[in-house]
Amino acid sequence: AALNRFIQAMPKAELHIHIEGSLEPELIFELARRNQVKLPYASVEDLRAAYAFTNLQSFLDIYYAGASVLLHEADFFDMAWAYFLRAKADNVVHAELFFDPQTHTDRGVPFAAVIDGLRRACDRARNELGIQAELILCFLRHLSEEAAFTTLQQARPHRDKFVGVGLDSSEVGHPPEKFQRVFAAARELGLRAVAHAGEEGPPQYIWDALDLLQVQRIDHGVQALRDPVLVQRLREQRIPLTVCPLSNIKLCVFGDLAQHNIGELLRQGLVATINSDDPAYFGGYMNQNFVETFDALQLGAAEAITLARNSFEASFATHADKARYA
Ligand code: ADE
Ligand code: ZN
Repeated sequence: AALNRFIQAMPKAELHIHIEGSLEPELIFELARRNQVKLPYASVEDLRAAYAFTNLQSFLDIYYAGASVLLHEADFFDMAWAYFLRAKADNVVHAELFFDPQTHTDRGVPFAAVIDGLRRACDRARNELGIQAELILCFLRHLSEEAAFTTLQQARPHRDKFVGVGLDSSEVGHPPEKFQRVFAAARELGLRAVAHAGEEGPPQYIWDALDLLQVQRIDHGVQALRDPVLVQRLREQRIPLTVCPLSNIKLCVFGDLAQHNIGELLRQGLVATINSDDPAYFGGYMNQNFVETFDALQLGAAEAITLARNSFEASFATHADKARYA
C-alpha cells in the first residue's frame, strides 16, 4: 500500500497513449446521441461486453468502430480533455498523445477539426492542469504509402501543432520499409519519429524501424528480448521502449502479468517506460498499469523511480522540463 501511494504521487510522463483509445463507452454513447450516429451496440454494457480480445486485430476492429462517433472539433476536444483530467489524477505531468487522422478523414471529417480540437485540449491542459502536452500524428500502417503521404500533406499547414509522427495499426504484414519514404519526408519537416514495432511483430521490425525509419523511440518493443544483438544496441544507444503492460495482456502478447518481460527489460539496462496504450479498452490508466505490474512482478520503489526517470529521458520535452524531473 505504501508502494502504491509512492507510485501514485510520483510525477511521470506518458508517451504511449492513443487518444482514440481513451474514449470511454459512456462518452461513445454520449457522442453517438449528440451526433446521431447509430451504434451496433444497444447499451454501454453491451459495448463493454464486446471488449474481449484475442490479438491486436480483434481489438482494432472495435477501436475503429468506437471512433466513428467523433465528427466535430468539439468531440475531439471533449475526448482529449477527459483524458487529461484522468491523467492529472495519476500525476502525469507530461503527455505525448498519438492520434490517427486517417480514421477520421476517411469518414469525411476535416483534418483541421481533428487537430484543432486535440490541440485546444492540450493548450488547456497546460494552462489549467500543469500538464505539458504534445501531439504525435500516427500513420495507419494497414493503409498505403500514398495515403500516408496524403495525410502528411494535409498536416503541413498545421506543422506547429504536433511534434512528431508515428506508425500504428496492424503490425504483422506491414513492415516499416513500407513507410521509409514518408518518414524521410516527415523528418525533413523537423518532425520527431517513433513507430510501433515488436508488439506482435518480429525483432527485425525493430531493426527496420531504427535503420529505415530512423525513429527515436520504439513503441512496445517487447519482442526485442528474442534478439540479444538488438538488446545490446537498444541498451548502448539508450533507445527507449514505450511498454504497455495491461495492453499486452488484453491482446494476448503475454499470458498474464506475471509473465510480462518489463522487469527483465529493466534488468538488461534498457530505457523502458510504462504507458497505458488504449486505457478505455484495456482496463486501466497509468497508475493502474504501474500498480498491477509491480504487484505481479514484485517490483519496488527502485524500479518505480527508474521508470519515471526513463519516461522523462525518453520524452520530447524541452531540456528545461526534463531537468525539472531528473
Ligand atoms: N492503435 C491503437 N492501439 C494500438 C496498438 N496497441 N498497436 C497498434 N496500433 C494501435
Ligand atoms: Zn499503441
